[in-house]
Amino acid sequence: MKEEKERIWLSLAQMGGNEQKYIKEAFDTNWVVPLGPNVNAFEADLKAYLTPQSPKGGVLSEAPFGEKGGGDVHVVALSSGTAALHLALVMLGVEAGDEVICQSFTFSASANPIKYQGAIPVFVDSEEETWNMCPIALRKAIEDRIRVTGKTPKAIIPVHLYGMPAKMDEICAVAAEYDIPVVEDAAEALGSVYKGHKCGTLGRYGALSFNGNKIITTSGGGALVTHSEAEAKRVMFFATQARENEPHYQHEHVGYNYRLSNISAGIGRGQMEVLQEHVDTRRSHHAYYREHLNNVPGIKVMSAPTGDFDSNYWLTCITINSGVTGYDREELRLKLEAENIESRPLWKPMHLQPVFSDAPFYTMCQTGSVSERLFDRGLCLPSGSSLTKEDLDRVIQVIINR
Ligand SMILES: Cc1ncc(COP(=O)(O)O)c(C=O)c1O
Repeated sequence: MKEEKERIWLSLAQMGGNEQKYIKEAFDTNWVVPLGPNVNAFEADLKAYLTPQSPKGGVLSEAPFGEKGGGDVHVVALSSGTAALHLALVMLGVEAGDEVICQSFTFSASANPIKYQGAIPVFVDSEEETWNMCPIALRKAIEDRIRVTGKTPKAIIPVHLYGMPAKMDEICAVAAEYDIPVVEDAAEALGSVYKGHKCGTLGRYGALSFNGNKIITTSGGGALVTHSEAEAKRVMFFATQARENEPHYQHEHVGYNYRLSNISAGIGRGQMEVLQEHVDTRRSHHAYYREHLNNVPGIKVMSAPTGDFDSNYWLTCITINSGVTGYDREELRLKLEAENIESRPLWKPMHLQPVFSDAPFYTMCQTGSVSERLFDRGLCLPSGSSLTKEDLDRVIQVIINR
């Protein structure tokens, strides 16, 4: 009987070692609630990690890109990245009937919170260099929505997909022109850097995810990054059922139960100790794939266009030109699967998803779109920080010998 090879997963969680120490502290002190010392310390760790430092080591007073952002970084730990995106829209007063612009090439969680608010998603195609929101198509979308509805969209959600920073300079410049706040979906991009600034800190709000497959995990969890303490307090208010400051339970707004558990935050504290290691490892996996696959005819490893885009390479992705390789991405995926290797097609664009079939979509392509083409051709390769060189070699050999 053929012996099955050990499974190589796309992106597994990897513990640093101290997670259980922080969890034990929570149990020992009975902080088994959605607030407490681990939550506070995890937020402080994230704040320290994300706060921009000037070359002299001081803290910059102003972020250069976020039109309403600033150098001051505040973090509210939440139950998920989806909750973070939702609360960003709540903070911006997005209501039923409003339109919110969102990158089409993404996971559905970028767009679902628009629907939670009864608002209408307007999808924008990607550009070829980063695979993220195309600033030219963004402008086209804004101008057309103003023309059609007489109203300016309420927010713009670019995504740093697979860790690759979006063209935030250009996106924020268009956003500022029309006075539309930017909500960065940095769920996949903790540790990525754009022009010297951490992703998640470049817009009015930034959403992070610590889901099980992300660069660090709290099993499930997320955070919203704001640029003032007052805003962070307001986010926390909405995340804890919007209880007014009264001795009894007084409610003047709809609230949510979105705070992170003190147990999960304990995992987060342990993970913060190894975050940079995880980022460095995923970057080195990407470099290894690139070295071995970029000379395979018809295979291209997605890489940062210039040094301004410092991806965490959460997932290394390839595109397959079937005219050259003689096989398409699904055939390659099945071949990898037969070798017990998990891979995954690139995200299916939101404008192709039945659940969003009514939503407008803007692209600069005459036929099809960049995101559709990427979906047809692209595959995510195993990229977890616990993978060994032997694991990567197994993946590479399947692709080379196909
Ligand atoms: C691009 C993107 N946005 C949002 C989310 C939502 O994060 P979460 O799973 O923590 O709700 C994810 C990950 O799951 C994601 O990949």
